[in-house]
Amino acid sequence: MQFTATDEDDTRRLAVALAAAIGPGDVVALEGDLGAGKTTLTRHLVRALGVGPEVPITSPTFTLANHYRTGDLEIIHADLYRLGDAAEAAGIGLEEWLAGDALLVVEWADRIPGILGDDLLRIRIEHRDEHGREFTLEATGPASRELLALAAEHLEGPPA
Ligand SMILES: Nc1ncnc2c1ncn2[C@@H]1O[C@H](COP(=O)(O)OP(=O)(O)O)[C@@H](O)[C@H]1O
Ligand SMILES: [Mg+2]
Repeated sequence: MQFTATDEDDTRRLAVALAAAIGPGDVVALEGDLGAGKTTLTRHLVRALGVGPEVPITSPTFTLANHYRTGDLEIIHADLYRLGDAAEAAGIGLEEWLAGDALLVVEWADRIPGILGDDLLRIRIEHRDEHGREFTLEATGPASRELLALAAEHLEGPPA
């Protein structure tokens, strides 16, 4: 699926549609250059899932992962940019996260191919201009296909 954002509010709309479809155990891989909007999309997603403005949602580039909770949902937002290889990834608990119930959102997972398993929602973000972004969303397995179909329905629905 393709989605064109002309500004950050469009990116927020995409995040709201994803939030309506996503849940425990889902895995999202965010790809795109520095400044593409991976952290920004995640911030809008985490907000749309119910994490309030009193909780700062920041880039996990230096912390490797930030953890959030809303209701019964645990959200792990990770960034593998500074990670060397798969061996190092094993040390951060990625396998436990994948086996657990959290929603896992990972920036730069494409640096270590295959690291997120075989059923994930890949979102590639391309920088068009100052505020314009092109999103390419691709599901790689049954759970992510269902998630993507549901999110697409929400996007096409009446404007919120
Ligand atoms: N349509 C848009 N979608 C997402 N971010 C946007 C958009 N337009 C402008 N931006 C800005 O682009 C920057 C994206 O930065 P960030 O989300 O940290 O990127 P990344 O995590 O991919 O390195 C932010 O400053 C954000 O406000
Ligand atoms: Mg980022």
